[in-house]
Amino acid sequence: MTQTAADSPAPARRQRAQLKERTLRTDQWWRYPLVTFIIFTAFLVYATWAIFDNDFFVAPYHAPFASPCLAEAVCPEEAQLFGWAPLGDWYTWPPGLLILGLPAGFRFTCYYYRKAYYRAFWLSPPACAVNEPHSKYTGESRFPLILQNIHRYFFYAAIVIGLILAYDAVKALIEKPAGVGTWVLIVNAILINMYTLSCHSCRHITAGRLNHFSKHPIRYRAWGFVSKLNAKHQELALISMFSVMGADLYVRLVAKGVISFPFA
Ligand code: FES
Repeated sequence: MTQTAADSPAPARRQRAQLKERTLRTDQWWRYPLVTFIIFTAFLVYATWAIFDNDFFVAPYHAPFASPCLAEAVCPEEAQLFGWAPLGDWYTWPPGLLILGLPAGFRFTCYYYRKAYYRAFWLSPPACAVNEPHSKYTGESRFPLILQNIHRYFFYAAIVIGLILAYDAVKALIEKPAGVGTWVLIVNAILINMYTLSCHSCRHITAGRLNHFSKHPIRYRAWGFVSKLNAKHQELALISMFSVMGADLYVRLVAKGVISFPFA
């Protein structure tokens, strides 16, 4: 007789597997969460500093953490997106404060980052087969972690931000093709867009609900391409994090005069 869902035993209360020992691991399992903690903390400290740093533009280079710049009061005309400043002169705070929530939200809700910071910052769990300090486990089924489900919407925003960074890089290429900064921005734009396209939501959007790939050859090809990137999602998440931080710092150092010709 076929067993139905109704016949199945009631699901056990959500909880982690109970370990009597502190850990069953004999390797240095703590290295991954520790290194993650250090790298992510450094990134957060840098991003916080960058938001409030005003040297985000030196023609034709635009620091990624402050792009797009949409307010006349804080953006030189050349730094405005298509020379367009829809916020006029009423917005006088740093441009990064306005837009960084979108790429930050994208990374914060990313499947890879979730795994990494749950382990490194919340120790939930610190690693496989390691006892965690929390007594309760509700997964991502309740507020506030259920909000992680909005990742797909951050993905749409990240596509737009990725295109804007590509636009900044192409603009620099046209105006200063031999500039080191131009190539720094180009490499960063490529990595950021590869990371965005490697997103699990992107993979699902391209062909996630198709029953017959043969009836949707274009979506199938797109899915195949995204799937290859998706297999490298963790690596792309980390490399693009370093590249965006490096490109941002580079532009600011040029703007401050710390880096100059021939390295600019
Ligand atoms: Fe990582 Fe979407 S799952 S960016």
